[in-house]
Amino acid sequence: MKGEGTMAMDFEREKLAAARRSLDYVKDGMLVGLGTGSAAAHAVRLLAERVKDGLRIRCIPTSRRTAELARSLGIPMTSFDETARLDVTIDGTDEFDPDLDLVKGGGGALLHEKIVAAASDRLVIVCESKKRVPVLGTSGMPLPVEVVPFGWPVVAAALGRMEGQPALRLSAPEEPFQTDEGNYILDCRFPDLSDAAALAERLERMTGVVEHGLFLKLASVVIMGQGDGSALFTRS
Ligand code: A5P
Repeated sequence: MKGEGTMAMDFEREKLAAARRSLDYVKDGMLVGLGTGSAAAHAVRLLAERVKDGLRIRCIPTSRRTAELARSLGIPMTSFDETARLDVTIDGTDEFDPDLDLVKGGGGALLHEKIVAAASDRLVIVCESKKRVPVLGTSGMPLPVEVVPFGWPVVAAALGRMEGQPALRLSAPEEPFQTDEGNYILDCRFPDLSDAAALAERLERMTGVVEHGLFLKLASVVIMGQGDGSALFTRS
């Protein structure tokens, strides 16, 4: 049996392998979305090496964290003031299912991630093997729902009535975690995410909900690290 430390190292290697392969989708002259999280950070670092070697790209980050990393590595940036479309985005995920539907937002960047994903011709997901699930919601990771701070207990009560078991995400004891837009996150545990499309619709109709972590029909490709290599899944 592998210990926790060894497994964490294996997963890190898998993320790196997936990130390396994702660079096949980035060509000279492209506008690129940069995801958030540890797997996406590997891709950002590898992209920076290519930029140093002469690759010309301009990027839009999905979080302040990623923006800081990319800038510190000398990756040229752009913004949605300059372009409404991106050629490709490389991002991580908390879960993916056989249809390449995703649960995202473990790092709290779901709103910007979804805007960037929706603006991208291709969304390439990079992750380690533990993110693959038969049905969304079965890995134990919560489904994040981003809400405006005003009246959040009202939204939480409504999510509770839907059996979502919402828990306010905290950054310190008694201190709500705030997203890059200053919103709160309610981490939910719905008993069943098998009809994710229906749940997504219900969440989108709720006043006070800004975004949720269900990324349905957005991913074009998932690159999953596996042992020393990687497996590629494409959406049909
Ligand atoms: C950020 O809000 C998330 O959507 C991340 O993309 C997701 O949590 C995956 O992060 P890791 O690659 O760190 O697991």
